[in-house]
Amino acid sequence: MSTYLDTTDAIEPGEVTPPTFSLPALVEALESQTSAPTLEQIYFWLENADVSAEELAPYRGFKDGNYWRHLVCRNDFVEMLVLCWRPGQRTPIHDHNGSHGGVRVCEGNMWETTFTYDPDKGLEYKSASEYLTGAVTGSDVPDIHQLGNPDVSEQDMVTIHIYSPPLGVLHTYKPGSATIDLYTPPDPE
Ligand SMILES: [Fe+2]
Repeated sequence: MSTYLDTTDAIEPGEVTPPTFSLPALVEALESQTSAPTLEQIYFWLENADVSAEELAPYRGFKDGNYWRHLVCRNDFVEMLVLCWRPGQRTPIHDHNGSHGGVRVCEGNMWETTFTYDPDKGLEYKSASEYLTGAVTGSDVPDIHQLGNPDVSEQDMVTIHIYSPPLGVLHTYKPGSATIDLYTPPDPE
């Protein structure tokens, strides 16, 4: 993961089991926010999400050429999207331009590659990770990464993303280059 947060401490005897969040429960939690939720809070929602295939169905749709972004809910402080990826579809290398956020893999397996950026050295490879169905990862504000459904996966991928504040124009990067470009993700549908 880009930013490691240990939010999976063992539950002590007598402690209350964390709630689980259906997709409607996540929407309710997000829509009740009156300030930007922390990355820890976003991890908590995603790690305790229990989203059924029926709940995902309205947001499940793929297209050729690029992954497809489907908006579930958005307010001034936070947004939730479902992204649908055919094998081989991936994001540009990007940061989140002031937002932080988390991802839960609902179907398929996700590859994440992370990078460091130095104005003198440019963009440099840092690490690569695989996240299987049910895994959660996230990005803090300075993190630079690329997400994708591996071209060799032979299966579709569906992911839930929560960003705070909602994403605007992102910065994109190229390996070995110090150039930073601007990128507006396609409007969610
Ligand atoms: Fe990202």
